[in-house]
Amino acid sequence: MPVTILGIESSCDETSAAIIRDNQILSNIIANQEVHKKYGGVVPELASRAHQKNIIPVVDLALSKANIEKNQLDAIAYTRGPGLLGSLLVGSSFAKSLSMSLEIPLIEVNHMQAHLLCHFIENNGEKKTKFPFIGVNISGGHTQIVLCHNYFEMELIGETLDDSIGEAFDKCGKIIGFEYPAGPQIDKKSKEGDSKRFAFSLPKVDGLNFSFSGLKTNFRRTVEDGLNKNKNFIKIESNNLCASLQSTIIKILSQKVSNAVNITGVNNIVFGGGVSANSGIRDYFNNSKEKLNVFFSQNQYTTDNAAMIAMVGYLKFKEKKFSALDLNSRARYKI
Ligand code: KG4
Ligand code: ZN
Repeated sequence: MPVTILGIESSCDETSAAIIRDNQILSNIIANQEVHKKYGGVVPELASRAHQKNIIPVVDLALSKANIEKNQLDAIAYTRGPGLLGSLLVGSSFAKSLSMSLEIPLIEVNHMQAHLLCHFIENNGEKKTKFPFIGVNISGGHTQIVLCHNYFEMELIGETLDDSIGEAFDKCGKIIGFEYPAGPQIDKKSKEGDSKRFAFSLPKVDGLNFSFSGLKTNFRRTVEDGLNKNKNFIKIESNNLCASLQSTIIKILSQKVSNAVNITGVNNIVFGGGVSANSGIRDYFNNSKEKLNVFFSQNQYTTDNAAMIAMVGYLKFKEKKFSALDLNSRARYKI
């Protein structure tokens, strides 16, 4: 019998619901919260309110698009953490109530594990990685290197000491007037720019940890100096600033991935998280001269989505890893 699961994601500023049947996604609905754009970042209180407003229509739409009735569901999977507590509580309360009323199992999911495991979603028979693999989680909230022994045993072996990689994109973008989230716009503009125009310094952090706050300061100073000389600096140099920033970020990432391969002896690499949608990062690693087996999730599952939560729900369902109804949500939740 096929297994049908509803996944719910509400950890940050996307309200999402998805239906998975075995490892095939039948629907994946994402409501983005436009309200944060004008603030240059996510406002937690506004995010919780928007989740509250969106959750029922988003779940209804996911069910109807998948052509599934509620009574056909075998389990409800939801994001337990990490994330904004108020946002997580909306998704978890909804998931718990529905699992109680339908009398079906509840499955808690770690959002960061889901970013790495969504690559296992079926995609026209495309090859999947083997364990162990090195997970490179690059998102707005996190930058992690994770040694993945199996679906549920993951070991954090490197992380950022300050800003995340997504914040490096978003905060630098804000400096040159881009709306939040700036990552996709920087990606697009980089294609038209000269990546060697500005030389941003690389952080001096050994091993597998990252630091991006120095890059942001370096970027800001470059822009301020430029503006002091020419008030049209941003307009003239915008594409070059984007291309130089993006290529510096790729250099940092490439160095850390090489370190991880050398330290662990593992050369299967899986990228997850919103920043893994970046076309420069994809091109660079897909054409890497190092002997790496590189895997990216399908583009539509890189930024926050419930398909990845449903996928982990399916993996846990097979192992009967069900959750109690009194489980608390976790703003911080170890991978
Ligand atoms: O995984 P995600 O949706 O949310 C978190 O869990 O944090 O990641 C969001 C981040 C934002 O910082 C956004 O700017 C970045 O992913 N992002 C990108 C691209 N698409 C999204 N960064 C660079 N290039 C992109 N194409
Ligand atoms: Zn995420």
